[in-house]
Amino acid sequence: MNQPVTIRQLTPQEAREQIGALSAVLIDCVEGGASVSFMLPLTRDRADAFWQGVAEGVAAGKRILLVAQDPSTDTIVGTVQVILDQPENQPHRADIAKMLVHSQARRRGVGAALMQAAEEAAAKAGKTVLVLDTVTGGDAERLYERVGWVKSGIIPNYALWPKGGFCDTTVFYKQISAA
Ligand SMILES: CC(C)(COP(=O)(O)OP(=O)(O)OC[C@H]1O[C@@H](n2cnc3c(N)ncnc32)[C@H](O)[C@@H]1OP(=O)(O)O)[C@@H](O)C(=O)NCCC(=O)NCCS
Repeated sequence: MNQPVTIRQLTPQEAREQIGALSAVLIDCVEGGASVSFMLPLTRDRADAFWQGVAEGVAAGKRILLVAQDPSTDTIVGTVQVILDQPENQPHRADIAKMLVHSQARRRGVGAALMQAAEEAAAKAGKTVLVLDTVTGGDAERLYERVGWVKSGIIPNYALWPKGGFCDTTVFYKQISAA
């Protein structure tokens, strides 16, 4: 993958059609040691079930699903979500979740491009406060700081690594202007 990636927002139908490709990225990340909600071994069925739920959330207007595609093959190499569905006293807030870039596509700006697109999509949806959390000291933490997210604090022992053992989590936020 030498060209820049294409970032796209998937329709509900596309989200359903791309479940297999999205599962491949998720499994690659978890097998590579990413703490992103899942324990090893992550079977294809469990991964597919997760993306099925995401596709339903897209269809219900509860989340935005973005993908990064290699323009020469249309292969999905990365993804991120904007969770729009929030409590009634936080209509201006969104969570950013499941930022995943396939191990073979990393360190080429895909993560940064996905985050920029996620922020733009959130702004278009009228959101002005964005929140996310990530493993403390990981690659993602550097990415978020680089693109202007503010570190709120660290929660020790928040989650488990895919093979077990506690990991700390850093909570970030970013204030944006609605588009
Ligand atoms: C975190 C993650 C999404 C980053 O994705 P990425 O596509 O590699 O991100 P970027 O390419 O934008 O940035 C990564 C690094 O590559 C560097 N980089 C970007 N473009 C580059 C280029 N053209 N040439 C060389 N280096 C480049 C960046 O400066 C950055 O460097 P740093 O890590 O030393 O700070 C990815 O590592 C990942 O999916 N990890 C596993 C899942 C995970 O933990 N997700 C986070 C959940 S909260």
